Amino acid sequence: MVTARRPLIAGNWKMNLDHLQSIAFVQKLAWNLKDAKHDAATVEAAIFPPFTDLRSVQTLIDADKLELELGAQDLSDNDSGAFTGDISGAFLSKLAVKYVIVGHSERRTIHLESDEVVASKVAAAHRNGLVPVVCVGETADDLEKHGPSAVPVAQLKAALAAVPSSAEIVVAYEPVWAIGSGQAATPDQAQQVCAALRATLVDLLGADAAASTRVLYGGSVKASNIASFMREPDVDGALVGGASLDITEFASIIRYQNHVGV
Ligand code: 13P
Repeated sequence: MVTARRPLIAGNWKMNLDHLQSIAFVQKLAWNLKDAKHDAATVEAAIFPPFTDLRSVQTLIDADKLELELGAQDLSDNDSGAFTGDISGAFLSKLAVKYVIVGHSERRTIHLESDEVVASKVAAAHRNGLVPVVCVGETADDLEKHGPSAVPVAQLKAALAAVPSSAEIVVAYEPVWAIGSGQAATPDQAQQVCAALRATLVDLLGADAAASTRVLYGGSVKASNIASFMREPDVDGALVGGASLDITEFASIIRYQNHVGV
């Protein structure tokens, strides 16, 4: 069975834009997409603002019926209790958040999140009705020592250890060396690893689930290179950092199907 995968362009704002800035940004982004007659049925667009912006953005999306999905950048692996500073998946769910990034390399590095913690957060997302965007990717050192796919594949196996095969997930392949460096992977490199990740999904979840799961590429994605990634058969979208903070640039990435030569 061939399953059509709706491309997903996701903007991870990281720790940028306060709630007032986020409202202005989302309004302008929505106008830009509307002016350009963007059809969300062909390409899904999602934004991942900081926690403190979520309520404001959710209210705006709701009130104006914007065709933008909302995601969070992290969640706790616990649902409630004495976990100062943590955010429950149950709270995110109440805010109509659809997606949550889990295991971003910045959390693995700065907050020392292990594969076990990532797996537990993936399970918490699923338990609370959120779709985890599971991030995997190798460092430059890993690439040299183990080649391109070994570390991302091992991270994916570990991350999915505690969820049923029916759980909806999104996978994001983000080579650490490409994040914020301006040096994106080549489309061929991205395809190679995304194909290896999909083959891993076949083993873990079965062929149908693997065929319908979106695998994104992330790392220095821009309007000028998105179309070349999206031509690859196993790349189903992008997780965009820096370029998602520029309205015109991000709207252009979302509208990659309209780019000349695609
Ligand atoms: P850049 O697009 O800034 O390289 O960041 C990628 C990223 O980390 C998205 O999660």
